[in-house]
Amino acid sequence: VGEGDPAILNLPAYSTTLGKPVAANPYGVPSRFEANLQRRESPGLTRVSQASVAFAPLQGLFGIITPSGLHFERHHQGWQDIDPAQHRLMINGLVKQPKVYTMDDLMRLPSVSRMHFIECGANTAMEWGNVAVPTVQYSHGMLSCSEFTGVPLSVLLEDCGYDKKNGKYILAEGADGSSMTRTIDITRALDDVIVAWGMNGEMLRPENGYPLRLVVPGVQGVSWVKWLRRIKVGDQPWATKDEAVHYIDAMPDGSYRQYTSIQECKSVITTPSGGQRLLDKGFYNITGLAWSGRGKVKRVDVSVDGGRNWRTARLEGPVLNKCLTRFNIDWVWDGGPCVLQSRAIDDTGYVQPKINELRAVRGTRSIYHNNAIQSWQVAASGEVSNVQVY
Ligand code: MTE
Repeated sequence: VGEGDPAILNLPAYSTTLGKPVAANPYGVPSRFEANLQRRESPGLTRVSQASVAFAPLQGLFGIITPSGLHFERHHQGWQDIDPAQHRLMINGLVKQPKVYTMDDLMRLPSVSRMHFIECGANTAMEWGNVAVPTVQYSHGMLSCSEFTGVPLSVLLEDCGYDKKNGKYILAEGADGSSMTRTIDITRALDDVIVAWGMNGEMLRPENGYPLRLVVPGVQGVSWVKWLRRIKVGDQPWATKDEAVHYIDAMPDGSYRQYTSIQECKSVITTPSGGQRLLDKGFYNITGLAWSGRGKVKRVDVSVDGGRNWRTARLEGPVLNKCLTRFNIDWVWDGGPCVLQSRAIDDTGYVQPKINELRAVRGTRSIYHNNAIQSWQVAASGEVSNVQVY
């Protein structure tokens, strides 16, 4: 007492010495004190790391943009670093003039830059039956949000003279070894789909599809074909392996839903969240993310008593179409056990369901499209853990 804080009283070396010169890191990197903030692979989730996921550390991110180096990764057959000078995009099928574009051809066309979330359809997949993972990184980290830059797909389809009468679908194909192909209906393809080379002001990172990927706003990540090399126009859906065997929803009656592409309205509290520890009773900012594949987030409600009472959170602007929205709400923790939840509502009026409401319709055999309300339990010790509340 009375001795003062040595962090203030003792002059540190950085206040008395010459710092590092400019351009010591010509492409900047985070502080060495942030080394714990990383994409992480869930141990044992898949047999090989080439067909796996690295989850984004949502608990450590602010605002709505995911730094490019922390954008989640999901590959079926590993990632490649493709020479843009060698890369080509072919458009064929039901078009007047099939064409092959180089990157230079594409980048001279009129471009757009738009902020959108991308969520893997398998995000939160492990939680269908019971609590399976400890942190928000593993429960919700197949989610990222960036500003994407590229040419609208509609410009390219017009350029090739797509068949307006019979061209009902497109097939997008990647250049990696996974034979990744996805069908997209022509109405969506002409609406807001982008053939993108830019992400957050720089070229795409190799892990995220450099030099070219498809951006399909509001739709599950699998349709955002990376290392995009071909778009084919056709008159019916292709029902490829990634549409017929994988990325289908097992229903309780034994049937399977196919082509359930839209990521429905969802939200999650990122702090406090599983694996964190509150210091002491008193004031905390509860913060999280909300999104909807159908449009804008209209409202987010937060409960601190397991869903009995709800208060409306503040939405931080900008609130954009098919984009992450940050929410915040003040909370004074009384030091007792409690359960924190968030519930998002989008501008179509859709309300994010409770896990038991979702299970009543979907059963528990699904992998994809779990958009249930997430519950975090705060113990009297301050420890936060993943729980399911019915
Ligand atoms: N595109 C190709 N060519 N190969 C892939 O393995 N994975 C898909 C999709 N596009 C994939 C692909 C899946 S399942 C998802 S969720 C997203 O890319 C992930 O994009 P990201 O790695 O940039 O987060």
